[in-house]
Amino acid sequence: MLDSPKPLAYTPPMGWNSWNMLGSKVDEASIRDTADAIVSMGFKDLGYEYVVIDDCWSEKGKRDSDGNLIPNPEKFPNGLKALADYVHGKGLKIGIYSDAADRTCGGYPGSYGFEEQDAALWASFGFDFLKYDYCNAPDDQATAIDRYTRMGDALRKTGREFLYSLCEWGGRSPQLWGRQVGGQMWRVSGDIFDSWINIAMDGGRWYGIGVDISLDVADDLHEFGGPGGWNDLDMLVVGLKGKGHISGGGMSFLEYQTHMSLWVIACSPLMIGCDITKMDGETAGLLLNPEVIAVNQDPLGKPGRRVRTQGRVETWRKPLADGSVAVALINRGSSVQEVSLKASDAGLLDSTKHVRNLWTGKDIADFTWEMKQKVEAHETILLKVMAQ
Ligand code: GLA
Repeated sequence: MLDSPKPLAYTPPMGWNSWNMLGSKVDEASIRDTADAIVSMGFKDLGYEYVVIDDCWSEKGKRDSDGNLIPNPEKFPNGLKALADYVHGKGLKIGIYSDAADRTCGGYPGSYGFEEQDAALWASFGFDFLKYDYCNAPDDQATAIDRYTRMGDALRKTGREFLYSLCEWGGRSPQLWGRQVGGQMWRVSGDIFDSWINIAMDGGRWYGIGVDISLDVADDLHEFGGPGGWNDLDMLVVGLKGKGHISGGGMSFLEYQTHMSLWVIACSPLMIGCDITKMDGETAGLLLNPEVIAVNQDPLGKPGRRVRTQGRVETWRKPLADGSVAVALINRGSSVQEVSLKASDAGLLDSTKHVRNLWTGKDIADFTWEMKQKVEAHETILLKVMAQ
């Protein structure tokens, strides 16, 4: 019997997005090099699939005489159709960006009032994914739903399959209506920075989100993610190390490991934001661990949640399709702490449980009621707990 095809984004989408590293410097060469690296360095084999061009790809301040958006010829000398063909030739998919107003966040033309025309253009180029931002649009929820619906309808009308990624930063509760407007993922917070803590910008008018606060956002919204529709904690900052386009100054290895662990256990999309063509071993280890990625991509599609707190260490639990459980011990504090993992934390009572550390790839213990574990400051120990 043939398996019926899985719905789009049945598991959290995976790929790479240009913004965190390149900002407005996105261009054809970087997209091609990234697509090459996704294949040659083993990312594709692990499920990283979408290569997404974020803001600043078009000509600023204008459309052509037919009203079409114009890909910037200096950045994309061979045009977007040729680039889409190249990315497809690697067995990958390609994404584009726009905004539900007249201008994007970077001040480039937005798609409000041009939804069908722009969707048709992207479809003609061969795009597979749209990230749709919300800068310069009215604040209220009803307008956001209307504008996201207009683009969702326009994408559907093209007849081409688009993964629709909503980016209104969570302020209008997109977890409640994201699916209804045709979305498969919706941002649940402001822009992440390359930082453990939030960073105030513009004299405190807005905040870049740090990894620490993302834990609370993910826990609050865990019940809304599932096959076909996911809470998006924003693109990954793993590997930027303070060198990206976004602010924040960088994090320690253990902080990046906690960041990756949270995105994995919360079923956030995994959209890499660093330069994977020049990656060090630590970064590769965090982005390319098959057992860790399997937790994020688990077919049960159940986002994890916090189940217990001991001092500054949180225990998170995510049930998996094979009956086992992923458990994260996350130390938000600034000193090492020894904590217990109880049978009830895993939701697996009575039986003997076999415990494997997914970051180190080592089987570490068998226990029935309780085991102890030391967690360093800002570290996450990610475990798979299996009943015997
Ligand atoms: C907003 C989004 C970011 C990025 C930029 C581009 O801030 O939230 O992810 O797309 O716009 O200008």
